[in-house]
Amino acid sequence: MWKYYQPVNVMFGEGELENLVSHLNHLNVKKAFVLADSFLVENGLVKKIQQKTGAVIGGFTSDIEPNPTIQNVESAVNMVKEMGADCLIAFGGGSVMDCAKATAAAVAHDCDVQDLISGMQINKALPIIAIPTTAGTGSEVTAGAVLSDKEKGIKTAIFSPAIFPKLAIVDPVLTYSVPKKVTAITGIDVLAHAFDAMTSKKANDVTDALALQAAKLAIKNLPKVVSNGLDKKARNQMSKASTIAGLAFSQTGTTASHACSYILTAKYNVPHGEACAFTLDSWIKFSAKIKPELEEYAQLLGFETVDRLADWLNHQKAIFGLKRNLSDIGINKNDLKDVVEASMSSANMTNNIGEIKQSDVLKVFESKV
Ligand SMILES: NC(=O)c1ccc[n+]([C@@H]2O[C@H](COP(=O)([O-])OP(=O)(O)OC[C@H]3O[C@@H](n4cnc5c(N)ncnc54)[C@H](O)[C@@H]3O)[C@@H](O)[C@H]2O)c1
Ligand SMILES: [Fe+2]
Repeated sequence: MWKYYQPVNVMFGEGELENLVSHLNHLNVKKAFVLADSFLVENGLVKKIQQKTGAVIGGFTSDIEPNPTIQNVESAVNMVKEMGADCLIAFGGGSVMDCAKATAAAVAHDCDVQDLISGMQINKALPIIAIPTTAGTGSEVTAGAVLSDKEKGIKTAIFSPAIFPKLAIVDPVLTYSVPKKVTAITGIDVLAHAFDAMTSKKANDVTDALALQAAKLAIKNLPKVVSNGLDKKARNQMSKASTIAGLAFSQTGTTASHACSYILTAKYNVPHGEACAFTLDSWIKFSAKIKPELEEYAQLLGFETVDRLADWLNHQKAIFGLKRNLSDIGINKNDLKDVVEASMSSANMTNNIGEIKQSDVLKVFESKV
Protein backbone atom coordinates (compact mmCIF):
# COMPACT_ATOMS: atom_id res chain seq x y z
CA MET A 1 0.00 0.00 0.00
CA TRP A 2 1.22 3.52 -0.70
CA LYS A 3 -0.32 6.96 -0.81
CA TYR A 4 0.49 10.36 -2.24
CA TYR A 5 -1.32 13.54 -1.23
CA GLN A 6 -0.16 16.92 -2.41
CA PRO A 7 -2.65 19.81 -2.44
CA VAL A 8 -0.24 22.71 -3.15
CA ASN A 9 -0.74 24.54 -6.43
CA VAL A 10 2.83 25.12 -7.65
CA MET A 11 3.65 27.90 -10.13
CA PHE A 12 7.29 27.64 -11.20
CA GLY A 13 9.18 29.98 -13.47
CA GLU A 14 11.52 32.90 -13.83
CA GLY A 15 9.52 36.09 -13.25
CA GLU A 16 6.49 34.27 -11.79
CA LEU A 17 6.41 36.77 -8.91
CA GLU A 18 5.15 39.32 -11.45
CA ASN A 19 1.87 37.39 -11.51
CA LEU A 20 1.23 37.79 -7.77
CA VAL A 21 -1.68 40.21 -8.29
CA SER A 22 -3.55 37.83 -10.56
CA HIS A 23 -2.92 34.96 -8.11
CA LEU A 24 -4.34 37.07 -5.26
CA ASN A 25 -7.39 37.92 -7.37
CA HIS A 26 -7.86 34.31 -8.37
CA LEU A 27 -7.79 33.24 -4.71
CA ASN A 28 -10.20 36.07 -3.90
CA VAL A 29 -7.87 37.49 -1.22
CA LYS A 30 -9.24 40.64 0.38
CA LYS A 31 -6.54 41.47 2.94
CA ALA A 32 -3.16 39.79 2.99
CA PHE A 33 -0.44 40.02 5.63
CA VAL A 34 3.16 39.50 4.51
CA LEU A 35 5.79 37.70 6.56
CA ALA A 36 9.06 38.62 4.89
CA ASP A 37 12.76 38.00 5.22
CA SER A 38 14.46 41.20 6.40
CA PHE A 39 16.74 41.11 3.35
CA LEU A 40 13.71 41.60 1.11
CA VAL A 41 12.65 44.66 3.06
CA GLU A 42 16.17 46.07 2.74
CA ASN A 43 16.39 45.46 -1.02
CA GLY A 44 12.97 47.01 -1.66
CA LEU A 45 11.18 43.90 -2.93
CA VAL A 46 8.54 43.98 -0.17
CA LYS A 47 7.76 47.58 -1.02
CA LYS A 48 7.58 46.66 -4.69
CA ILE A 49 4.98 43.93 -4.15
CA GLN A 50 3.03 46.23 -1.81
CA GLN A 51 2.88 48.88 -4.52
CA LYS A 52 1.82 46.36 -7.14
CA THR A 53 -0.93 44.82 -5.06
CA GLY A 54 -2.37 48.10 -3.80
CA ALA A 55 -4.57 47.89 -0.74
CA VAL A 56 -4.69 44.07 -0.71
CA ILE A 57 -1.52 43.90 1.37
CA GLY A 58 -2.47 45.41 4.70
CA GLY A 59 0.79 45.01 6.58
CA PHE A 60 3.98 43.08 6.99
CA THR A 61 6.57 41.91 9.48
CA SER A 62 10.19 40.96 9.01
CA ASP A 63 10.77 40.28 12.68
CA ILE A 64 11.64 36.64 11.99
CA GLU A 65 14.94 35.06 12.97
CA PRO A 66 16.68 32.25 11.13
CA ASN A 67 15.21 29.13 12.81
CA PRO A 68 12.06 31.07 13.80
CA THR A 69 11.19 31.22 17.46
CA ILE A 70 7.92 30.87 19.34
CA GLN A 71 8.17 34.60 20.09
CA ASN A 72 8.48 35.42 16.36
CA VAL A 73 5.25 33.51 15.76
CA GLU A 74 3.49 35.12 18.73
CA SER A 75 4.28 38.61 17.52
CA ALA A 76 3.13 37.77 13.95
CA VAL A 77 -0.11 36.27 15.32
CA ASN A 78 -0.89 39.52 17.16
CA MET A 79 -0.32 41.61 14.05
CA VAL A 80 -2.40 39.32 11.83
CA LYS A 81 -5.29 39.32 14.32
CA GLU A 82 -5.18 43.09 14.65
CA MET A 83 -5.32 43.49 10.90
CA GLY A 84 -7.95 40.83 10.31
CA ALA A 85 -6.05 39.28 7.40
CA ASP A 86 -7.66 36.51 5.36
CA CYS A 87 -4.40 35.28 3.80
CA LEU A 88 -0.69 35.15 4.67
CA ILE A 89 2.06 35.67 2.15
CA ALA A 90 5.30 33.98 3.23
CA PHE A 91 8.10 35.72 1.34
CA GLY A 92 11.51 34.36 2.31
CA GLY A 93 13.43 31.20 3.09
CA GLY A 94 12.35 28.25 5.19
CA SER A 95 12.46 30.33 8.36
CA VAL A 96 9.83 32.76 7.08
CA MET A 97 7.66 30.06 5.52
CA ASP A 98 7.67 28.00 8.74
CA CYS A 99 6.87 31.07 10.83
CA ALA A 100 3.94 31.79 8.49
CA LYS A 101 2.61 28.23 8.74
CA ALA A 102 2.61 28.31 12.54
CA THR A 103 1.07 31.80 12.51
CA ALA A 104 -1.66 30.64 10.12
CA ALA A 105 -2.59 27.76 12.43
CA ALA A 106 -2.43 29.79 15.66
CA VAL A 107 -4.65 32.54 14.22
CA ALA A 108 -7.25 30.10 12.88
CA HIS A 109 -7.38 28.16 16.16
CA ASP A 110 -7.10 31.31 18.27
CA CYS A 111 -4.67 29.38 20.46
CA ASP A 112 -1.30 29.89 22.11
CA VAL A 113 1.74 29.00 20.06
CA GLN A 114 2.81 26.76 22.97
CA ASP A 115 -0.36 24.70 22.40
CA LEU A 116 0.64 24.16 18.77
CA ILE A 117 4.00 22.69 19.70
CA SER A 118 2.58 20.63 22.54
CA GLY A 119 0.93 18.23 20.15
CA MET A 120 -2.41 19.98 19.71
CA GLN A 121 -4.45 18.66 16.75
CA ILE A 122 -4.16 21.29 14.01
CA ASN A 123 -7.09 21.13 11.61
CA LYS A 124 -7.40 24.65 10.29
CA ALA A 125 -5.17 27.52 9.21
CA LEU A 126 -5.36 30.75 7.25
CA PRO A 127 -4.50 30.21 3.58
CA ILE A 128 -0.81 30.73 2.79
CA ILE A 129 0.90 31.82 -0.40
CA ALA A 130 4.52 30.67 -0.09
CA ILE A 131 7.20 32.44 -2.13
CA PRO A 132 10.58 30.83 -1.40
CA THR A 133 13.67 33.01 -1.81
CA THR A 134 16.23 30.31 -1.04
CA ALA A 135 16.68 27.02 -2.91
CA GLY A 136 16.69 24.71 0.06
CA THR A 137 13.88 23.78 2.36
CA GLY A 138 11.00 22.93 0.02
CA SER A 139 8.76 24.19 2.82
CA GLU A 140 6.50 25.73 0.15
CA VAL A 141 5.14 22.25 -0.60
CA THR A 142 5.25 20.58 2.82
CA ALA A 143 2.83 20.28 5.72
CA GLY A 144 5.47 20.84 8.38
CA ALA A 145 7.03 23.79 10.18
CA VAL A 146 10.03 23.79 12.49
CA LEU A 147 10.13 26.22 15.42
CA SER A 148 12.86 26.96 17.93
CA ASP A 149 12.10 27.00 21.61
CA LYS A 150 14.98 29.12 22.82
CA GLU A 151 14.20 28.66 26.52
CA LYS A 152 14.41 24.88 26.22
CA GLY A 153 17.20 25.01 23.63
CA ILE A 154 15.33 22.71 21.23
CA LYS A 155 13.83 22.73 17.75
CA THR A 156 10.43 21.18 17.42
CA ALA A 157 8.21 20.49 14.43
CA ILE A 158 4.47 20.80 13.85
CA PHE A 159 2.65 18.88 11.14
CA SER A 160 -0.81 19.10 9.66
CA PRO A 161 -2.27 18.92 6.16
CA ALA A 162 -4.02 22.17 7.16
CA ILE A 163 -0.74 24.10 6.88
CA PHE A 164 0.12 23.03 3.33
CA PRO A 165 0.31 26.38 1.48
CA LYS A 166 -2.55 26.99 -0.99
CA LEU A 167 -0.11 28.27 -3.58
CA ALA A 168 3.66 28.14 -4.04
CA ILE A 169 5.18 30.75 -6.34
CA VAL A 170 8.66 29.43 -7.08
CA ASP A 171 10.58 32.11 -8.94
CA PRO A 172 14.30 31.24 -9.26
CA VAL A 173 15.12 34.92 -9.88
CA LEU A 174 14.50 35.55 -6.18
CA THR A 175 17.46 33.32 -5.28
CA TYR A 176 20.02 35.26 -7.38
CA SER A 177 20.90 37.46 -4.40
CA VAL A 178 21.57 34.62 -1.94
CA PRO A 179 25.22 34.88 -0.75
CA LYS A 180 27.72 32.12 -1.55
CA LYS A 181 27.82 30.46 1.89
CA VAL A 182 24.01 30.50 2.28
CA THR A 183 23.70 29.11 -1.25
CA ALA A 184 25.91 26.19 -0.22
CA ILE A 185 24.13 25.59 3.08
CA THR A 186 20.59 25.78 1.68
CA GLY A 187 21.57 23.78 -1.40
CA ILE A 188 23.02 20.91 0.59
CA ASP A 189 19.71 20.78 2.50
CA VAL A 190 18.10 19.84 -0.84
CA LEU A 191 20.37 16.80 -0.99
CA ALA A 192 19.52 15.97 2.63
CA HIS A 193 15.81 16.06 1.74
CA ALA A 194 16.30 13.90 -1.33
CA PHE A 195 18.34 11.23 0.47
CA ASP A 196 16.23 11.36 3.63
CA ALA A 197 13.16 10.76 1.45
CA MET A 198 14.84 7.71 -0.14
CA THR A 199 15.80 6.33 3.28
CA SER A 200 12.38 6.80 4.88
CA LYS A 201 10.13 3.96 5.94
CA LYS A 202 7.38 5.78 4.00
CA ALA A 203 9.31 5.94 0.70
CA ASN A 204 7.47 4.60 -2.32
CA ASP A 205 8.08 4.51 -6.08
CA VAL A 206 6.68 8.02 -6.57
CA THR A 207 8.73 9.62 -3.81
CA ASP A 208 11.88 7.76 -4.89
CA ALA A 209 11.38 9.07 -8.44
CA LEU A 210 10.99 12.62 -7.15
CA ALA A 211 13.93 12.30 -4.76
CA LEU A 212 16.17 10.87 -7.48
CA GLN A 213 15.33 13.71 -9.86
CA ALA A 214 15.94 16.29 -7.13
CA ALA A 215 19.27 14.67 -6.23
CA LYS A 216 20.29 14.52 -9.90
CA LEU A 217 19.57 18.23 -10.40
CA ALA A 218 21.30 19.24 -7.16
CA ILE A 219 24.41 17.09 -7.73
CA LYS A 220 24.88 18.71 -11.15
CA ASN A 221 23.98 22.28 -10.24
CA LEU A 222 24.91 22.89 -6.60
CA PRO A 223 28.68 23.08 -7.28
CA LYS A 224 27.91 25.47 -10.16
CA VAL A 225 25.76 27.90 -8.13
CA VAL A 226 28.20 27.91 -5.25
CA SER A 227 31.14 28.73 -7.51
CA ASN A 228 29.11 31.23 -9.58
CA GLY A 229 25.94 32.67 -8.07
CA LEU A 230 25.25 34.47 -11.35
CA ASP A 231 24.75 31.20 -13.23
CA LYS A 232 21.04 31.70 -13.89
CA LYS A 233 20.48 28.29 -15.45
CA ALA A 234 22.01 26.54 -12.44
CA ARG A 235 19.99 28.77 -10.06
CA ASN A 236 16.84 27.76 -11.95
CA GLN A 237 17.72 24.07 -11.65
CA MET A 238 18.44 24.39 -7.91
CA SER A 239 15.05 26.04 -7.29
CA LYS A 240 13.46 23.19 -9.19
CA ALA A 241 15.48 20.61 -7.22
CA SER A 242 14.44 22.22 -3.93
CA THR A 243 10.73 22.09 -4.71
CA ILE A 244 10.91 18.55 -6.14
CA ALA A 245 12.80 17.33 -3.05
CA GLY A 246 10.07 19.04 -0.99
CA LEU A 247 7.42 17.13 -2.93
CA ALA A 248 9.25 13.89 -2.07
CA PHE A 249 9.69 14.48 1.65
CA SER A 250 6.23 16.03 2.00
CA GLN A 251 5.14 12.39 1.78
CA THR A 252 7.94 10.54 3.49
CA GLY A 253 9.10 12.93 6.19
CA THR A 254 12.79 13.33 6.89
CA THR A 255 15.05 10.79 8.58
CA ALA A 256 18.35 10.40 10.41
CA SER A 257 20.29 13.34 8.95
CA HIS A 258 17.55 15.72 10.06
CA ALA A 259 17.10 13.94 13.41
CA CYS A 260 20.79 14.55 14.13
CA SER A 261 20.65 18.16 12.92
CA TYR A 262 18.28 19.76 15.43
CA ILE A 263 20.64 19.66 18.41
CA LEU A 264 23.52 20.91 16.24
CA THR A 265 21.43 23.95 15.32
CA ALA A 266 19.75 24.53 18.70
CA LYS A 267 22.84 24.09 20.88
CA TYR A 268 25.78 24.79 18.58
CA ASN A 269 24.22 27.33 16.16
CA VAL A 270 25.02 25.31 13.05
CA PRO A 271 22.73 26.52 10.21
CA HIS A 272 20.06 24.01 9.21
CA GLY A 273 21.43 22.65 5.92
CA GLU A 274 24.99 22.46 7.25
CA ALA A 275 23.73 20.60 10.34
CA CYS A 276 21.89 18.03 8.18
CA ALA A 277 24.88 17.58 5.89
CA PHE A 278 27.13 16.87 8.89
CA THR A 279 25.95 13.25 9.20
CA LEU A 280 24.18 12.78 5.84
CA ASP A 281 27.02 10.91 4.10
CA SER A 282 27.23 8.39 6.95
CA TRP A 283 23.47 7.75 7.00
CA ILE A 284 23.35 7.11 3.25
CA LYS A 285 25.98 4.39 3.72
CA PHE A 286 24.12 2.97 6.74
CA SER A 287 20.81 2.86 4.86
CA ALA A 288 22.29 1.29 1.72
CA LYS A 289 22.85 -1.89 3.74
CA ILE A 290 19.10 -2.03 4.36
CA LYS A 291 17.80 -0.79 0.99
CA PRO A 292 19.99 -2.28 -1.78
CA GLU A 293 18.26 -0.10 -4.43
CA LEU A 294 20.33 2.79 -3.06
CA GLU A 295 23.37 1.27 -4.82
CA GLU A 296 21.41 1.34 -8.08
CA TYR A 297 20.32 4.94 -7.36
CA ALA A 298 23.95 5.96 -6.73
CA GLN A 299 24.81 4.59 -10.18
CA LEU A 300 21.89 6.44 -11.78
CA LEU A 301 23.31 9.57 -10.17
CA GLY A 302 26.69 8.95 -11.79
CA PHE A 303 28.62 7.23 -8.97
CA GLU A 304 30.10 3.75 -8.98
CA THR A 305 28.80 2.97 -5.51
CA VAL A 306 27.04 4.53 -2.52
CA ASP A 307 30.46 4.85 -0.86
CA ARG A 308 31.68 7.02 -3.76
CA LEU A 309 28.52 9.12 -3.52
CA ALA A 310 29.20 9.63 0.20
CA ASP A 311 32.82 10.57 -0.59
CA TRP A 312 31.61 13.14 -3.13
CA LEU A 313 29.27 14.66 -0.53
CA ASN A 314 32.10 14.93 1.96
CA HIS A 315 34.33 16.49 -0.65
CA GLN A 316 31.66 19.11 -1.50
CA LYS A 317 31.36 19.97 2.19
CA ALA A 318 35.11 20.62 2.24
CA ILE A 319 34.98 22.76 -0.93
CA PHE A 320 32.01 24.74 0.43
CA GLY A 321 33.81 25.33 3.75
CA LEU A 322 31.15 23.50 5.77
CA LYS A 323 31.83 21.89 9.12
CA ARG A 324 32.94 18.28 8.87
CA ASN A 325 34.48 17.49 12.25
CA LEU A 326 33.21 17.55 15.82
CA SER A 327 35.95 20.01 16.70
CA ASP A 328 34.76 22.39 13.92
CA ILE A 329 31.42 22.54 15.75
CA GLY A 330 32.90 22.68 19.24
CA ILE A 331 31.64 19.30 20.39
CA ASN A 332 34.04 17.49 22.69
CA LYS A 333 33.97 13.89 23.90
CA ASN A 334 32.01 14.75 27.04
CA ASP A 335 29.24 16.43 25.01
CA LEU A 336 28.71 13.42 22.75
CA LYS A 337 26.30 11.61 25.06
CA ASP A 338 23.89 14.56 25.08
CA VAL A 339 24.19 15.06 21.33
CA VAL A 340 23.43 11.39 20.70
CA GLU A 341 20.50 11.33 23.13
CA ALA A 342 18.99 14.47 21.63
CA SER A 343 19.34 12.98 18.13
CA MET A 344 17.70 9.73 19.24
CA SER A 345 14.78 11.65 20.73
CA SER A 346 13.83 13.26 17.39
CA ALA A 347 10.73 11.61 15.98
CA ASN A 348 12.22 11.38 12.50
CA MET A 349 14.98 9.05 13.74
CA THR A 350 12.49 6.17 13.85
CA ASN A 351 11.31 7.11 10.35
CA ASN A 352 14.64 5.89 8.92
CA ILE A 353 14.65 2.43 7.36
CA GLY A 354 16.26 -0.16 9.60
CA GLU A 355 16.48 0.21 13.33
CA ILE A 356 18.91 2.92 14.34
CA LYS A 357 20.37 2.25 17.77
CA GLN A 358 22.03 4.71 20.13
CA SER A 359 25.33 2.96 19.39
CA ASP A 360 24.84 3.59 15.64
CA VAL A 361 24.36 7.31 16.22
CA LEU A 362 27.40 7.40 18.50
CA LYS A 363 29.46 5.63 15.84
CA VAL A 364 28.39 8.15 13.20
CA PHE A 365 29.29 11.14 15.37
CA GLU A 366 32.56 9.52 16.52
CA SER A 367 33.55 9.06 12.88
CA LYS A 368 33.50 12.85 12.39
CA VAL A 369 37.05 13.57 13.52
N1 LIG B 1 9.08 23.07 6.86
C1 LIG B 1 9.95 22.37 6.18
O1 LIG B 1 9.55 21.53 5.40
C2 LIG B 1 11.41 22.62 6.39
C3 LIG B 1 12.37 21.84 5.73
C4 LIG B 1 13.72 22.10 5.93
C5 LIG B 1 14.11 23.15 6.75
N2 LIG B 1 13.16 23.89 7.41
C6 LIG B 1 13.53 25.00 8.29
O2 LIG B 1 13.82 26.14 7.48
C7 LIG B 1 14.77 26.98 8.15
C8 LIG B 1 15.94 27.26 7.25
O3 LIG B 1 15.50 27.90 6.08
P1 LIG B 1 16.54 28.34 4.95
O4 LIG B 1 17.60 27.33 4.86
O5 LIG B 1 15.76 28.67 3.74
O6 LIG B 1 17.23 29.63 5.55
P2 LIG B 1 16.63 30.96 6.18
O7 LIG B 1 15.23 31.18 5.77
O8 LIG B 1 16.91 30.94 7.65
O9 LIG B 1 17.54 32.05 5.46
C9 LIG B 1 18.94 31.98 5.62
C10 LIG B 1 19.58 33.35 5.39
O10 LIG B 1 19.40 33.72 4.02
C11 LIG B 1 18.90 35.05 3.92
N3 LIG B 1 18.11 35.10 2.69
C12 LIG B 1 16.95 34.48 2.41
N4 LIG B 1 16.58 34.72 1.13
C13 LIG B 1 17.53 35.54 0.61
C14 LIG B 1 17.72 36.12 -0.67
N5 LIG B 1 16.87 35.90 -1.68
N6 LIG B 1 18.81 36.89 -0.87
C15 LIG B 1 19.71 37.10 0.13
N7 LIG B 1 19.58 36.56 1.36
C16 LIG B 1 18.50 35.78 1.58
C17 LIG B 1 18.14 35.26 5.21
O11 LIG B 1 18.06 36.62 5.55
C18 LIG B 1 18.97 34.46 6.21
O12 LIG B 1 20.01 35.26 6.70
C19 LIG B 1 15.18 26.23 9.41
O13 LIG B 1 14.48 26.73 10.51
C20 LIG B 1 14.76 24.81 9.11
O14 LIG B 1 14.50 24.06 10.28
C21 LIG B 1 11.85 23.65 7.21
FE1 LIG C 1 16.05 20.29 5.85
